[in-house]
Amino acid sequence: MKRIAVLTSGGDAPGMNAAIRAVVRSGHYHGLEVYGVIRGYTGLINGDIRPLSLRSVGDIIHRGGTILYSARCKEFQTEEGRKKAVEQLRKHEIDGLVVIGGDGSFRGAQKLTALGFPAVGVPGTIDNDIPGTDFTIGFDTAVNTVIDCIDKIRDTATSHERTYVIEVMGRNAGDIALWSGLADGAESILIPESPYDLDDVVNRLKQAAESGKKHSIIIVAEGVGSGVEFAEKIKEKLSVETRVTVLGHVQRGGSPTAFDRVLASRMGAKAVDLLRGGEKDKMVAIQNNKLVGIDFDEAFSMKHQPDMELYDLAKILSI
Ligand code: F6P
Repeated sequence: MKRIAVLTSGGDAPGMNAAIRAVVRSGHYHGLEVYGVIRGYTGLINGDIRPLSLRSVGDIIHRGGTILYSARCKEFQTEEGRKKAVEQLRKHEIDGLVVIGGDGSFRGAQKLTALGFPAVGVPGTIDNDIPGTDFTIGFDTAVNTVIDCIDKIRDTATSHERTYVIEVMGRNAGDIALWSGLADGAESILIPESPYDLDDVVNRLKQAAESGKKHSIIIVAEGVGSGVEFAEKIKEKLSVETRVTVLGHVQRGGSPTAFDRVLASRMGAKAVDLLRGGEKDKMVAIQNNKLVGIDFDEAFSMKHQPDMELYDLAKILSI
């Protein structure tokens, strides 16, 4: 293996830049040439592939977003698109590819390997929804962004003794809601992995008020449905003053936390090691703080589950 390339694909996540830096620096360290693909699979199909020097990744470890840009590419979902991508990789004499992204991006990487081109994945998404790894790059930063926002909302919620519904991202996963809810002492956390009972939520709010709480925070994961609609349901059952905040894309930006920078650095370097060792069709994962490479098929055969012990604990601690 002489020359490798790296791309970022799907929704960006804080820490992707730190992962790109790790791929480039550890690649150079091991005597490889490293190229960057601009705009994910779109750039691969169009041949937008450029050399990345050691210095080209300076001053990015602390920056959110991705210097390589990201895209969701329809053409790559076709066999013809993927063949074009492989042609471009061969034309640029690339021997292996690191794909930083979520599960959709990994399915793309797997299809490249099926066409005979070695590709490995680095899990980068705020959703923390990739099976087989305890954490994905960007999740910790997103949770910290959410709790920073909720801390601010708390101040005004207390002053006005209001109930706040906060909708957070996560696609079909409840991890962001769960971790931020536990970290912020939310009265209720609604996640798609555990169907909620409206009466139960309402009773908890009533009990909280009766026991002297001055405000209530309810976190709704987007996978459960709209926070606005949920607040309407609460208003119908309880005559409490309610406000809604949909946090949206603020959760995807910002400087990565130390945890995400370290995770991204470790995972990026591990991806290079996998390619150097002749591995393909694998993703990097962290399991019990150990980095491993697992087959995409093995990961896809599992179902991501958030840590339900945290869910139960949050219920106990928010009484
Ligand atoms: O996968 C990351 C994520 O931010 C999800 O939490 C969210 O559902 C989705 O991407 C939003 O996608 P877009 O940026 O395309 O609106």
